Amino acid sequence: MAKVLVTGGAGYIGAHACKALAQAGYTPVAFDNLSTGHRAAVKFGPLVEGDLLNRAAIDAVLAEHAPIAVMHFAALSQVGESMQEPGRYWRENVLGGLNLIEATQAAGIDKFIFSSTCATYGDQDGVVLNEETEQHPINAYGGSKLAIEQMLRDFSPKGLTYVIFRYFNVAGADPDAEVGEAHDPETHLVPLILQAVAGARGALTIFGTDYDTADGTCIRDYVHVSDLVDAHVAGLKWLEEGKSSEVFCLGTGDGFSVREVVAAAAAVTNGPVPIEEGPRRAGDAVKLVCGSDKARTQLGWTPSRSTMPQMLRDAHRWHASDGF
Ligand code: UFG
Repeated sequence: MAKVLVTGGAGYIGAHACKALAQAGYTPVAFDNLSTGHRAAVKFGPLVEGDLLNRAAIDAVLAEHAPIAVMHFAALSQVGESMQEPGRYWRENVLGGLNLIEATQAAGIDKFIFSSTCATYGDQDGVVLNEETEQHPINAYGGSKLAIEQMLRDFSPKGLTYVIFRYFNVAGADPDAEVGEAHDPETHLVPLILQAVAGARGALTIFGTDYDTADGTCIRDYVHVSDLVDAHVAGLKWLEEGKSSEVFCLGTGDGFSVREVVAAAAAVTNGPVPIEEGPRRAGDAVKLVCGSDKARTQLGWTPSRSTMPQMLRDAHRWHASDGF
């Protein structure tokens, strides 16, 4: 079976990608330094422990496994932290990405799938973001991801083909609960709500209730992680068919306020979500919704699990399991 190198394969999205690749007939080779990933999340192919700052380690895994393509998920990914420690983000994300892209090309591999983010757009409240929207990141995380997008464009004339996916609020878990979301510390809304429901932490703090929205809370576009990784497999096939390098936004186009997510979680879990209202969180945009017409029409992507109740049900099932 053809192998695919999955950097960050022990992380939340990477582990789901490994499952989707295995189901599609590929062998995923997870490459992860386990700084935030989980050894137990690697279930669908081998794990090679290694760091993207170590070029020799990348060369070695590419030589040993000879993958046909690289899927690059590994990155530091917290907006707030990236403003506290910008150097770490520029060093690990950008230098790590450069090492990987150079090693990929040196190994004669010409297919690269990159996990990018709507954080590359910066604060463009009220606009539905799409592939044409100008990118003006306002934090080091978004800046570091945009730098890798640019790198891929620069390497493209030298024979590297790529698909860049820009996505936003990824939620949910594998419907079979084989893998799921487990960050430490957890900062994302859906797992924090489920922890609050389970009594594993105190009340959920709603960050800001005085925004200019119908219920005063921020609006985001949530995509089911299984739908998201399906798009990555479709992106791989796109490149295997010899199609051109492309950027695709992955979202549903529907926005949910924080209060709407809380209400949906209460319905799915049959229990009240303990909440308290707090001040706004620095760096939060009011409304961020990501269009996906291009992915639907060109890639044939259908986000079939990305309804709010389904994402919450699948995340809840995972959180109720033993986890990793
Ligand atoms: N929120 C709360 N309380 C919490 C946590 C979050 O009210 O305890 C709110 C946030 O203010 C925001 C919404 O829930 O309005 C979603 O917050 P998340 O932290 O779950 O997600 P973000 O929208 O901040 O972050 C997402 C991705 C990042 C990505 C970023 C781009 O998770 O990886 O968008 O800005 F980089």
